[in-house]
Amino acid sequence: RGWIMTNLCTSVWVPDPDAVWISAQLLHDYNPGEKHLLLQLSDGTVRFHPVVSPSDLPPLGNPDILEGENDLTALSFLHEPAVLHNLRIRFLDYSSIYTYCGIVLVAINPYDQLPIYGEEVIDAYSGQDMADMEPHIFSVAEEAYRTMTREEKNQSIIISGESGSGKTVSAKFTMRYFAVVGGAAQQTSVEERVLASNPIMEAIGNAKTTRNDNSSRFGKYIEIGFGRKGNIIGANMRTYLLEKSRVVFQASAERNYHIFYQLCASRDFPEMRSLKLAAPENFRYTSQGGEMQIPGTDDLSDLERTRNAFTILGVQSDQQMELFRILAAILHLGNVNIQASGRNSDRSYIDADDGSLAVFSKLLGVEGPQMAHWLCHRRLTVGGEMLVKPVSGQQAVEARDALAKHIYGQLFTWTVQTLNSALRSQRGKPTSFIGVLDIYGFETFDRNSFEQFCINYANEKLQQQFNRHVFHLEQEEYVREELEWSRIEFSDNQQCISLIEGQLGLLDLLDEECRMPKGSDESWVRKLYDQHVSSKPHPHFRKPRMSNSAFIVLHFADMVQYECDSFLDKNRDTVFEELINILKASQSELVAELFQQQVNPSVANGSLRSGKRAHREHKLTVGFQVSDLSIVKILTLYSPHNNLDERVTLNFIRTVQGLLKDRTDSPPPQLLMDVRRVFPVTFPSSPPPLPHADQLDIPDALKISFLRKV
Ligand SMILES: Nc1ncnc2c1ncn2[C@@H]1O[C@H](COP(=O)(O)OP(=O)(O)OP(=O)(O)O)[C@@H](O)[C@H]1O
Ligand SMILES: *[C@@H]1O[C@H](CO)[C@@H](O)[C@H](O)[C@H]1NC(C)=O
Ligand SMILES: *[C@@H]1O[C@H](CO)[C@@H](O)[C@H](O)[C@H]1NC(C)=O
Ligand SMILES: *[C@@H]1O[C@H](CO)[C@@H](O)[C@H](O)[C@H]1NC(C)=O
Ligand SMILES: [Mg+2]
Repeated sequence: RGWIMTNLCTSVWVPDPDAVWISAQLLHDYNPGEKHLLLQLSDGTVRFHPVVSPSDLPPLGNPDILEGENDLTALSFLHEPAVLHNLRIRFLDYSSIYTYCGIVLVAINPYDQLPIYGEEVIDAYSGQDMADMEPHIFSVAEEAYRTMTREEKNQSIIISGESGSGKTVSAKFTMRYFAVVGGAAQQTSVEERVLASNPIMEAIGNAKTTRNDNSSRFGKYIEIGFGRKGNIIGANMRTYLLEKSRVVFQASAERNYHIFYQLCASRDFPEMRSLKLAAPENFRYTSQGGEMQIPGTDDLSDLERTRNAFTILGVQSDQQMELFRILAAILHLGNVNIQASGRNSDRSYIDADDGSLAVFSKLLGVEGPQMAHWLCHRRLTVGGEMLVKPVSGQQAVEARDALAKHIYGQLFTWTVQTLNSALRSQRGKPTSFIGVLDIYGFETFDRNSFEQFCINYANEKLQQQFNRHVFHLEQEEYVREELEWSRIEFSDNQQCISLIEGQLGLLDLLDEECRMPKGSDESWVRKLYDQHVSSKPHPHFRKPRMSNSAFIVLHFADMVQYECDSFLDKNRDTVFEELINILKASQSELVAELFQQQVNPSVANGSLRSGKRAHREHKLTVGFQVSDLSIVKILTLYSPHNNLDERVTLNFIRTVQGLLKDRTDSPPPQLLMDVRRVFPVTFPSSPPPLPHADQLDIPDALKISFLRKV
């Protein structure tokens, strides 16, 4: 099994409850069949290590000479402890956060400002061959830029990693690199505008979560367009999957989108007075997390940054104020008090003198009493006849929150469109582009819902592209090296993806349930159990033992339990037509404009649920349709099995949580999980003999083949 005992190879790694892995020396030769190894651990203790089956043989240590290698694929033995150890050594001894793993650049989040991003460093990497330089984010950027200019091949840099591991920061460094090397001799404002889009997108799309103070709650793919001479001439971005639920709800210790706090912080500015803002404690939509301040950041100066960026992009201050007015209105909408009434609380009303409603209506230029009426009533068509029916307090609150989310979503889309027009090339169509994909990372929380489900599904798709791409390359390498590769394993995560998007899969059934008049989350999840547990057990699906309202998906990265509660609502994401009509009639031009286009253009062409539903209630479905996620389209666009692949080169960056970030949970389980996700490996069996993947105890879905440098 490749576990050969020689004098050269006497160091091994053994699992340790504290240090995760601890290195040890073998004190005696081991012969097959023996029940123990005699080891001396690096802390000096001597102990027997039981060997019941061959899989108990510990992973072998690498020769000292390979310590700190800048490409992990150069290690003789590539397994989890080797990866961890090598990254640690590079980080601690060489202060190097970057390491290659074949075609992938691994970036460790240092949680510290390092002096390695200055213009002199950019100059040093510019024009250099990747192989001659130490691994760096700039070397990946340079490689993409060079291939683009020399071979006229479009490029995409795909950045993935967990939440908080540094994807957005890495994306910004690549953009800065292109702005410098692709800047015209005569400094133009294009590069400046491309960079200025970042603070704006961060203000409206980032929020504090328990994992990251600056967490992107949307995915972003930006294509930077270059002219014939390799200079930037424009850019275009696409966003997907904005987490709209955050606008009305934040979990403990989390915040709403930064922009709301930035505005609240500016409440005393003369120009902001008319917005009637207050401290974030005073708004339902900004205070639910309980912590309004992020240590080390200043919302007021961040607002200045946001405003400057808008100005650079040509959004003038009166238009900015329009935007801020709508954002403030959302906060006031959240404070509108809805009272329950009626014998069974089956009705609701809003006080005629509700102050928040008055401010909301004034800011948006709409009729307050109409708004109040249609929040608390609904129009129905029964047998061709129109009826107006009162709704319960709970339903009215849901309508209010849905409206807030919808307004924010429209504002977000509008902003992206506005930025895109400001970034559009003035000098004709770009000859080539470099795309940068900052997908938000796989995430699991204590409680996971629809949002996590969508994010993790997108990550699953990304992983598949990654697997296939690497496998593809490896095949070529083996053919070139004339290695026998019959035993290379390739496991795809297609099974898990089919579970989600296939026929009778999770989305299919969710869709169907949404179409049922009496559909419910519970009945959906029961159908999932019926289909994927009872009738045909799916290897990537489980029912939790203790719950009838949750389901477990075995993703490539981790097992995640999702609570089914509100999946249907979030999938439908309904706003009622009457409310939209009120907004359409707004005196504010921007407000009216936002609601003219009723359906978010990025999701207009839904595949599964396009119309054809006999709604008895008058509502609009405005949410994204999971089956039509634009991220999925982007990823399939770059599928290696698509001829586009011949034209687009992929560059991968994997970001990894910092090793040392004041983590009290030592050993950091998160890091370990991350490393397991980053370096799932299998090996060819010959030549030379190496430990086999089975020994690494990696679930099948995790196995990818990696290039071995010979
Ligand atoms: N190269 C780096 N140098 C210094 N600090 C970094 C670096 N990369 C990341 N950080 C720190 O880590 C924080 C989180 O990084 P970032 O916001 O890029 O994570 P992310 O992967 O985009 O997470 P999410 O998926 O939540 O958006 C940053 O705010 C920054 O403080
Ligand atoms: C988010 O990151 C930017 C830098 O990229 C920083 O200026 C800003 O203060 C951060 N915001 C928060 C709330 O951490
Ligand atoms: C690269 O992208 C540009 C802009 O989309 C396109 O016009 C061009 O044909 C592409 N180049 C190649 C080689 O595919
Ligand atoms: C939707 O599809 C139609 C035809 O298939 C196309 O013309 C239109 O541009 C698409 N809309 C969007 C927003 O993609
Ligand atoms: Mg991010």
